[in-house]
Amino acid sequence: MKDMIFALHDNCPKYKQIYEKLKSFIEQGDVKANEQLPSIRKLAESLGVSRNTTLTAYEQLVAEGYIRGEGRRGYFVNLLEPLLLNNPETKMKRKVSQASPEILVDFRAGAVDPTHFPVKTWRKMTNQILTMPASYTYGDPFGEKVLRLEIAKYLFQSRGLETNSNAVIIGSNTQQMLLNIGHILKEKYHSIIVENPGYDGAREVFDLHKFQLETLPIQKNGADLSKLDQFQSKLIYVTPSHQCPLGVTMPIQQRQALIQWANNRDGYIIEDDYDSEFRYTQKPFPALSSIDATRVIYIGNFSKAFLPGLRMCYMVLPEPILSEYKKTFGMFQHTASKLHQLTVAKLMEEGEWLRHIKRMRLVYQRKMQLMVSELRKTFLDKITIIGEQSGLYVLIQAHLGKSENLLIKQAQKQGVRIYSTFPHFIADYPSDPLLKLGFSNLTPTEIVKGVSLLKAAWT
Ligand SMILES: Cc1ncc(COP(=O)(O)O)c(C=O)c1O
Repeated sequence: MKDMIFALHDNCPKYKQIYEKLKSFIEQGDVKANEQLPSIRKLAESLGVSRNTTLTAYEQLVAEGYIRGEGRRGYFVNLLEPLLLNNPETKMKRKVSQASPEILVDFRAGAVDPTHFPVKTWRKMTNQILTMPASYTYGDPFGEKVLRLEIAKYLFQSRGLETNSNAVIIGSNTQQMLLNIGHILKEKYHSIIVENPGYDGAREVFDLHKFQLETLPIQKNGADLSKLDQFQSKLIYVTPSHQCPLGVTMPIQQRQALIQWANNRDGYIIEDDYDSEFRYTQKPFPALSSIDATRVIYIGNFSKAFLPGLRMCYMVLPEPILSEYKKTFGMFQHTASKLHQLTVAKLMEEGEWLRHIKRMRLVYQRKMQLMVSELRKTFLDKITIIGEQSGLYVLIQAHLGKSENLLIKQAQKQGVRIYSTFPHFIADYPSDPLLKLGFSNLTPTEIVKGVSLLKAAWT
């Protein structure tokens, strides 16, 4: 098949849509084994996208074993294992097998431990808040003053960030904060540097605002900032305390270099400090914003340390962005529940918040240790574990000669759900697949069972 055309829409990265489309053509048998795909250039022209976009999609299909590159001859479809093929015979089997495997262990990352959530305290405080007349009205567009005060105190204590409650803005989630701040920044700035791999949720927002994206490559040992001056952008979005997804922490020298870069260019750093509460091997690093708050838009949330379903996060804005923000969004209603804001403020005032974090750090540290030791003793050098120092998940790079897709499907057949890291990558997905395994809401027994099921699935 030398030519191919299909519709692309705007609300999902184009490379991902091309990858999904080709994958489904191959799985459905619409493109047969050994058939040649259009060249990168030709497909890019037909679809009206850049060559890089089609190349990224092809590279992912190669990494997953769907297609192969034959040098100058181009790209050809591989003969697929029956498990991946969607021919009528296997379709029947697939239907049965898709319906049948019960998920026994779900290594989902976006969850917290339900057994240690302070249900009683939360209930008690919610009841108290409901006796206050203020609970029965709309709230401050920038967040409840009491909560902003508590957050400012907490950030000073835990992240070394000196600010006042006036500069703290509360919202419902990170993407919504980025959406608002992007609206302000795009007046003056038209491109932004993002990490590769990085948080796809942030990229979606920058895409929506039509920022041009430049990519900062991140390796297992961190970012290479030596080429920072070659970028056009004056904005950068980073996750310095716990790089998403690779888990590295940015050393102090790099933090200083980044601040200096932003100062020299009259630019800004968006620091997403999304789960810095859970660092197990060393004390938490101070936030980038604690070095120079005038150049940093700081974002934190309650999703990892408390409850993702709460939908609450916050930003600390430097001047003049803060004034602009207040001018633009002063007439907009608040997006985070006032009741929940008041309850969280009470939790913080009474010291329950810090006690909760302290408790959870220990709980998660034990789970992380168990997870890593089980994986290590089960798979020895067949996997590399990445990011075990902090956070609520680990990455494993599997050296098993199998594609990411096959590893996920085989795990699912055994009743285990594990997650792809592909959405985090803009390009350069590694040749040995990289998988994400969260453990925060699993019990120790489930962690042990999950790893042993993975062994049964893969070896
Ligand atoms: C890098 C990063 N930032 C922020 C968040 C939190 O997003 P939210 O505020 O929607 O909970 C996540 C969630 O996984 C994340 O990975």
